[in-house]
Amino acid sequence: MDKRLRCDELKNRVMSAQEAAKLFEDDMVVGTSGFTPAGYPKAVPLALADRVKNGEDIGITLITGASVGPELDGALSESGVIKRRYPYQTNSSCRNSINNSEINYSDMHLSHTPQWVKYGFFGKIDIALVEAVAITEEGYIIPSTSIGNSNVFIECADKVIIEINTSQPIELEGIHDVYNVEVPPNRKPIPLVKANDKIGTPYIMCNKDKIAAIVYTDIKDKTRPVAPIDSVSEKMAKNLIGFLEKEVEANRLPKNLLPLQSGVGSVANAILGGLVESEFEDLVVYSEVIQDSVIDLIERGKVKFASGTSLTISPERLDNFYMNFSKYKDKLILRPQEISNSPEVARRLGVIAINTAIEVDIYGNVNSTNIMGSRMMNGIGGSGDFARNGYLTIFTTESIAKNGNISSIVPMVSHHDHTEHDVMVIVTEQGVADLRGLSPKERAEEIIKNCAHPNYKDALYDYFNRACDGKYKHTPHILEESLSWHEKFLNDGSMIK
Ligand code: COA
Repeated sequence: MDKRLRCDELKNRVMSAQEAAKLFEDDMVVGTSGFTPAGYPKAVPLALADRVKNGEDIGITLITGASVGPELDGALSESGVIKRRYPYQTNSSCRNSINNSEINYSDMHLSHTPQWVKYGFFGKIDIALVEAVAITEEGYIIPSTSIGNSNVFIECADKVIIEINTSQPIELEGIHDVYNVEVPPNRKPIPLVKANDKIGTPYIMCNKDKIAAIVYTDIKDKTRPVAPIDSVSEKMAKNLIGFLEKEVEANRLPKNLLPLQSGVGSVANAILGGLVESEFEDLVVYSEVIQDSVIDLIERGKVKFASGTSLTISPERLDNFYMNFSKYKDKLILRPQEISNSPEVARRLGVIAINTAIEVDIYGNVNSTNIMGSRMMNGIGGSGDFARNGYLTIFTTESIAKNGNISSIVPMVSHHDHTEHDVMVIVTEQGVADLRGLSPKERAEEIIKNCAHPNYKDALYDYFNRACDGKYKHTPHILEESLSWHEKFLNDGSMIK
């Protein structure tokens, strides 16, 4: 126990999860640790859900780093505790409650959340509930597998509750680099000029008086399994790598590229994994999530360093990863998401931003969040932080979805996340569309020719050509058709060959 809780003064704050859960009241604003689901609190949220199941009426605003696991988003949405949610989620029960309008969800850029907390845009933060591997002699908090917004919640909250999770290896101590960003007008440049610069402290400072409860738990992170790499993802990876090789040949990128940022999910994991077989060496990752493929790239000597805000290793690999953690430790840094997702830093380092689209339109606008314009999937996450500020901004998607019943290339996206102004390159399993410097009509030609599935090319050309016959020829559209395209395909499939 002493190894984990080294501050004698705090020993009398240790209590059960049930006792700590009593600190929550109706209408509170609660900020928790957790990012894509790593390092989130587990025991206290489960105890809070029990209070409501036993008849109490408690509803809270929940703000996290990003997505969290079933003990938090799952248990609290099922029991109706979450009334309002920011900034990102992936839990199916939480998603259903959002799409049924039982939870008011505001999908945000992940770099905005910490500054909104500090600016007071969410109101007062009542409780910061964070997972830690240990508490130092001084009462400082050593986070676990993610940092996310923990430092900011701890700074701004009235009360702090800490879950010391003994299933998380104490060896994680030392990989965190916590740096605090001031609010305007006192904000200074973030002094990070290389992806592996350490600029902060290996712990989160905390005023001991605010620590209201310390709870021990050993519930493991429930990270999500990643799907095996299929032939479609392999083709996308090949197309992406071919594009990057040409950029090196053209002297637009150095031989070891620039720091790579890669999105979440199985496709993103597979695409980054494709680099294992490539000729690239000495790669650097500056991203938010460090997932399996990055660990493979480190093992194969391809990646020399990776910086992120969360370590999200799939369940089947977690034990092995922890057992061999010393091999990776000096090649990994976890930072607050205010730093990992900082637009200032992304632009300075020149990241290559690779994220996933749900659909892309012929002019290069991207929808990453809302299926058919209305059904929230996850959220924009950090994709916009990097897409808007990357040296190169790439979006990948399979050219078709729903067993081929729908084209992921459409005349007009049903929801906008990333506009044509931020999207430089589209990669599908069909090919690559390089949109840099092209006018909207040139982009449409490039996207349909290189990225659309053969089953949908005729329909897309037909739409585009007829739109070009209209009066205004800069970004030609036939509105009544572009808006009904999605339903037409799903309802009768009449335009599918
Ligand atoms: N039309 C309709 N549905 C579509 C579709 C399309 N064009 N493309 C995908 N879908 C559906 C899939 O069928 C699947 O639905 P299901 O859950 O009902 O089976 C769902 O969308 C997810 O698609 P999948 O292929 O499993 O995608 P994924 O796991 O690779 O995730 C995103 C893709 C876009 C949802 C995910 O990358 C994301 O949330 N991105 C936004 C946040 C982000 O980029 N964060 C990283 C920044 S570092």
